[in-house]
Amino acid sequence: MIEKEFKFKYQIFEDFSELPGHAQKLMKSAINARNKAYAPYSKFQVGAALYLNNDETVTGSNQENASYPSGLCAERTAIYAAGANYPEAKIEALAITATSQKHKVLEPIAPCGACRQAIAEYEKKQNSPIVIYFMGESGKIIMVNALLDILPLAFDNKFL
Ligand code: THU
Repeated sequence: MIEKEFKFKYQIFEDFSELPGHAQKLMKSAINARNKAYAPYSKFQVGAALYLNNDETVTGSNQENASYPSGLCAERTAIYAAGANYPEAKIEALAITATSQKHKVLEPIAPCGACRQAIAEYEKKQNSPIVIYFMGESGKIIMVNALLDILPLAFDNKFL
């Protein structure tokens, strides 16, 4: 038997003002996207913004459905829009933010497991990391250097 350890570095910014300018811009786009969420059931609005290497920004928000599992998270709404509209571009960064009509969201909201799997596919496809910034409605922001840092032992096409 051998034992292995998985370690990764990530950064915590105290608040929005501490982010570098380009990340502030992207987070602002995510906040705008968040305001367009359709979340009548959870009352939890999520916005995502992707910055591409062709200088385009693609956004998405969660889109819920009366048949709950038919809804889609903000991150996947955004990443599939990027893949559909700019199939040749590389995604450099993703900003995520969430708010709730039920309580204040002051902790960074990390992408769910299904979204991590979806984003991992694009990291693999473009063969370069996607930097991810995630925040609540305000407050601390976590930055991870690559999606695969938060999805160790990921399933991918090499198993197929
Ligand atoms: N949601 C996202 O948009 N992204 C995540 O990573 C987690 C959850 C959405 C899905 C649903 O509309 C609401 O938040 C509550 O789960």
